[in-house]
Amino acid sequence: MSQAYRVAVLIGSLRQGSYNRKLALALQKIAPASLQLEVVEIGHLPFYNEDEAASPPAGYTEFRASIKAADAVLFLSPEYNRSIPAVLKNALDVGSRPYGHNAFNGKAGGVITLSPGALGGFGAHQHLRQVLVCLNVATLPTPEMYIGGAADMFTDEGGFAKPDTQAYMGKFLATFADWIGRQKG
Ligand code: FNR
Repeated sequence: MSQAYRVAVLIGSLRQGSYNRKLALALQKIAPASLQLEVVEIGHLPFYNEDEAASPPAGYTEFRASIKAADAVLFLSPEYNRSIPAVLKNALDVGSRPYGHNAFNGKAGGVITLSPGALGGFGAHQHLRQVLVCLNVATLPTPEMYIGGAADMFTDEGGFAKPDTQAYMGKFLATFADWIGRQKG
């Protein structure tokens, strides 16, 4: 392939110092040439309201266009009370509408949940996969990326603290790139 796949990266945390945002930056540093990882911001999107149909907020239109322009979507999310944070669910709802114009339709998807806790956001991960089925996103089945121990994962320079972690993440990205190619035929 001559051109890199465009991957919209959605981060399920608005927190300054978010581990999931650190993960996005660390992944950008090690991404293969076949993947162009672009963070698409979601924190400014108003709560979804179906009354938007007549006059969608500017943020909605731009967000939907960013998703439509991407070959794939990579979700990096913490777990909030065993599910995905509201900000991420809101972005999924915004992108899914108006009815019949789902921006996520047919995209390849990848999911990593990252938590300081030991369970690696398993509950959020599974809930997210369930929503992505509804949105017709073809989500990479394995490796299942439930990542714990987030507090020790990154260096001050924004890389991965341990070579093993970096190698594992690199393997995930290579598998994801292959998956995107298969979905696009
Ligand atoms: C959490 N956190 C959390 N962690 C977890 O592993 N399972 C959970 O169910 C929850 N629930 C939860 C609810 C709420 C409302 C908050 C604010 C936090 C902790 C969470 O994983 C931690 O704050 C992460 O650091 C959040 O991710 P970022 O912001 O670092 O990307």
